Amino acid sequence: MRRVTLTQYLVGRQQNNLINADLRLLLETIARACKAISTRVNKGALADGLGAAGTDNIQGEAQKKLDVLSNEILMEANVWGGNLAAFASEEVERPVPITEPYKRGEYLLLIDPLDGSSNIDVNISVGTIFSVLRCPKTAEGKYCEPEEAAFLQPGSRQVAAGFAVYGPTTVFVITVGDGVHGFTLDRETYTFVQTHPDIKIPADTAEFAINTSNMRRWEPPVKRYIDECLAGTDGPRGKDFNMRWVASMVADVFRTLTRGGIFMYPRDSKQKEGRLRLMYEANPMALIVEQAGGAATDGARRILDIQPKGLHQRVAVILGSKNEVDRVTSYHK
Ligand code: F6P
Repeated sequence: MRRVTLTQYLVGRQQNNLINADLRLLLETIARACKAISTRVNKGALADGLGAAGTDNIQGEAQKKLDVLSNEILMEANVWGGNLAAFASEEVERPVPITEPYKRGEYLLLIDPLDGSSNIDVNISVGTIFSVLRCPKTAEGKYCEPEEAAFLQPGSRQVAAGFAVYGPTTVFVITVGDGVHGFTLDRETYTFVQTHPDIKIPADTAEFAINTSNMRRWEPPVKRYIDECLAGTDGPRGKDFNMRWVASMVADVFRTLTRGGIFMYPRDSKQKEGRLRLMYEANPMALIVEQAGGAATDGARRILDIQPKGLHQRVAVILGSKNEVDRVTSYHK
């Protein structure tokens, strides 16, 4: 069977005028950087890649060596292509505009370079998440200075989003707004090959993903939903539920995409805004999940409708199989 490569898929999207040449090149560059990160993650301790970097990121979290390296790989890969106006990273406080001698392009890139990196030392899947926005224009039709304000657009304005999972295989999942497609890294040819075309999340599920160690701090609607799942055939749902929690959003969302499920990181009395980042995690995953027929809310609002107030803002996330997300959301009303 002849399979489509990521390059062929993107060229097809360009020929159908769904993306322009600049966006295609940007997406190819991101994918290339993900291959390089995959190689480094794969080498692990052999390349002295494990352990702490000895620095904290903007969130005050201890950075791993591979967090820092992944961020560098993505920045270096993207700085000279001429497709980007600026770059924002979960690991860096302020956006990094593209400056001379490099040419500035029309897109803004947001990345979580190594999501789930607390799992890296214990050999559990981690990944990279990305989101692409257009740089807004001024009233005179010129591109705005790509400062923080330029990035603060609702997730519905994303022109592309995706993520890579560095697991038993490296997979690259992407949407440019016409469905969701998954590609597996063929390590012999070093190409991403389409293995998961047109992913659709089943509307119903009997599997949930949540960190239950926070249960005592949850809000009542989330507690009610999980209690009902746990009651299984004896409870109001009348069926048994299974639970999975990898603690790498990329891996939990990939599972949700491939076999359905509901993934939740709700706000609670300790993490009052939620834990996950709106711009780097929630928005790109929400676009992907909606494009795959699922739903994504913060309990009250569609994630993609939230007007961001800050680059590193956190948000509650409930996403996955539509009927289950709708149910939890209705419990919040
Ligand atoms: O935000 C980073 C992250 O590692 C996500 O990938 C993951 O879903 C979550 O945090 C895990 O959180 P916890 O350590 O509370 O289970």
